[in-house]
Amino acid sequence: MSYVLEINNLRTYFFTLRGVVRAVDGVSLKLRKGETLGIVGESGCGKSTLAWSMMKLVPPPGRIVSGSIKIDGIDITRMSESEVRRKIRWRKISMIFQGAMNALNPVYKVGDQIIEPLIVHGKMEKEKALSVAANLVKAVGLPEEILERYPHELSGGQKQRIVIAMAMAMEPDIIIADEPTTALDVVVQAQILNLMKKLHRERGISFILITHDLGVVTELSERIAVMYAGKIVEYASADEIFEKPLHPYTQALIRAVPRLKGDIHRLEYIPGTPPDLRRPPPGCRFYPRCPRRFEPCDKEEPPLQEVEKDHWVACWLHVRR
Ligand SMILES: Nc1ncnc2c1ncn2[C@@H]1O[C@H](COP(=O)(O)OP(=O)(O)OP(=O)(O)O)[C@@H](O)[C@H]1O
Ligand SMILES: [Mg+2]
Repeated sequence: MSYVLEINNLRTYFFTLRGVVRAVDGVSLKLRKGETLGIVGESGCGKSTLAWSMMKLVPPPGRIVSGSIKIDGIDITRMSESEVRRKIRWRKISMIFQGAMNALNPVYKVGDQIIEPLIVHGKMEKEKALSVAANLVKAVGLPEEILERYPHELSGGQKQRIVIAMAMAMEPDIIIADEPTTALDVVVQAQILNLMKKLHRERGISFILITHDLGVVTELSERIAVMYAGKIVEYASADEIFEKPLHPYTQALIRAVPRLKGDIHRLEYIPGTPPDLRRPPPGCRFYPRCPRRFEPCDKEEPPLQEVEKDHWVACWLHVRR
C-alpha cells in the first residue's frame, strides 16, 4: 500500500520560559494517495502545530523532538532545510495558513503576490508566471482581471480563493488547509468547501482540512482524525466517525454539532476545558472530562489501537489486551 503521508509517533514541543508545551505528543497517521483527511479538535489541541510540522515550519520556540513524517516515503524530519525547500515544501505539500486570507499584503496587487513564489521557488520567467497565475485564478473560479486588484478590493470568499490558488501554485500532491472557512459566512463557507472538493476530484489533490468544526469536515474528508490535547484519540473513515464513534470525546464533539435535518437533538457542549499542555494529566488526557471513565483511565495511557479495519481508537473502553 502506498501512502502519500505517513506520520509516526511525532512529537513537537514548544520550549517556552514557562515550561515545555507538548503540543503534538506522539501522533501517528497514514494517508493514501488521493485521500482527503479532516483533523478536528477543540482550540489548543495541537492541530496547527501538527500542520506546521508537516511543512517543517514549526515556529520557535517550537521544534520537532522525535518521530518521523514521510512524504512519498521520504522522511522530511531528517532532511536539511535546503533540501526541504528544494524538493518538498510547496512542491509536494503546501499549506493555507490559519488566517492567511487576512494576511495578504495590502500594498501589492493580487497578481504580484501569486507570481512571486513562482519566480522565487519555481524559477519561472515573469511572463510564464503571469500565465500560470491566470490559470490558477481561473481554476479557483475567479476572473483573470482579479490579478490587477488589491486585496482590500476583494470579498472574504475571493480572498480565500486567492489563498487556495497560491497553495496550488507548485502543483503539490497535498494541501493542508488550516481553518480555511472559519472567518466566512455559511454560504461562502459552503462555496469554498465545494471548490476544494472539485479540486480534489478533478486534480487529485489530497486536502488535509483542519477545523474545530466537525460539521464542516464531513463535506470534504474521507478520513477523520480526532485530536485531543496533542494526541489522536480516534482515526477512521468519516462515515464510521459519524455512525459509530467510539471515543467519548468524539461522541461529545458530535453531540455539539448543530444539525439542520434528521433527528433534532439538544445541542450539548463539552463540560470542562482541555488540559494545560505543559502538565497534561497522567493516563488518558481526556479522563478529567470523560463521562465514562473507569479505573485504568487516570493511571495508564490507552494505546491507539485498530479495533476494526481502518478504525483506530485510543480509549480503555475499547482496548483489547
Ligand atoms: N509559538 C508558540 N509558542 C508557545 N506555545 C505555542 C506556540 N504556538 C502554539 N503553542 C501552544 O501549543 C498548543 C497547541 O496549539 P495549536 O495552535 O497547535 O492548537 P490548535 O489546535 O491549532 O488551536 P486553534 O483551534 O485555536 O487554532 C497550545 O497549548 C498553544 O498554546
Ligand atoms: Mg490552529
